[in-house]
Amino acid sequence: MANPACESLIECDGQENVQIDLDQTFRETKVQEILDELDRQLVGLQKVKARIKEIAAFLMVDRLRRDWGLKADRPVLHMSFTGRPGTGKTTVAMKMAQILHCMGYIRRNHLVVAQRDDLVGQYVGHTAPKTKEVLKKAMGGVLFIDEAYYLFRKDNERDYGQETIEILLQVMENQKDDLVVIFAGYKERMDEFYRMNPGMRSRVTHHIDFPDYLLDELLQIGGIMLAQQGYYLDNAASQAFRTLIEKQLALPNFANARTVRNAIDLIKLRQANRLFANAGVVLKKDLARIEAEDVPIDADIA
Ligand SMILES: Nc1ncnc2c1ncn2[C@@H]1O[C@H](COP(=O)(O)OP(=O)(O)O)[C@@H](O)[C@H]1O
Ligand SMILES: [Mg+2]
Repeated sequence: MANPACESLIECDGQENVQIDLDQTFRETKVQEILDELDRQLVGLQKVKARIKEIAAFLMVDRLRRDWGLKADRPVLHMSFTGRPGTGKTTVAMKMAQILHCMGYIRRNHLVVAQRDDLVGQYVGHTAPKTKEVLKKAMGGVLFIDEAYYLFRKDNERDYGQETIEILLQVMENQKDDLVVIFAGYKERMDEFYRMNPGMRSRVTHHIDFPDYLLDELLQIGGIMLAQQGYYLDNAASQAFRTLIEKQLALPNFANARTVRNAIDLIKLRQANRLFANAGVVLKKDLARIEAEDVPIDADIA
């Protein structure tokens, strides 16, 4: 069901001269709220946010055009989110599901994340039921396929992944009004996947690339994550945190915001152990404060 708040604002009576203030419609629907939330909750990602807004605006106009009988079919909404791990693809996909639901493009505000192991079986006859099971779960909402290129093994034509690809192709075409598929993964590998599977490429409408975060953005993300969990870095810890993240940037397994999250988990563990080691009484403020020695500046976190 579409969100009633969205619905009522774009109701129309079929008259040629009725005027609609697009900006206002946007503001007054819950879509603007979701976009504002996206803006507030996610650091950086200016280009991604702009693209999401563009898509939302396009969908708003598309709905109005259909409501007024200017066109009948609905646009194909399958998407591709590319970027390295931890760049916010899954988080933004969840927001996209909310937007699509609010505008009535999907029945459920629902996102199912799947990867090769969830879709592809181990023996003959195993793959189709597995893939169909996932599709059934996702139907009416969004299916987010992480690292989609693992479905395709170019050196093995008989790989069971091919069966999943064929089922997906059919569903993306025949049930495109009831399921939005978002493919995600590294840009170069996704490009290769589309080159080898032109059928997939032609069914995906929106391609959004998620860039790596800059050091300052990562530090800001870290600050937000810590604050959300009731911690803060004292001055020396703040310096150490900067050094830690800067070093991670150069490591091969660096995973953007996810590395920041993992760094914070490690820091929390070390803080707890410091508090224990120093034994005795702790004050509430000690529980919240992270000190420099809690920050493992030489660790390889990933
Ligand atoms: N721009 C951002 N601002 C704040 N937190 C972020 C941002 N990008 C990612 N995160 C956080 O980092 C973690 C990993 O993000 P995720 O969306 O899973 O990345 P991906 O799917 O690209 O691997 C999540 O906890 C997410 O909330
Ligand atoms: Mg992810």
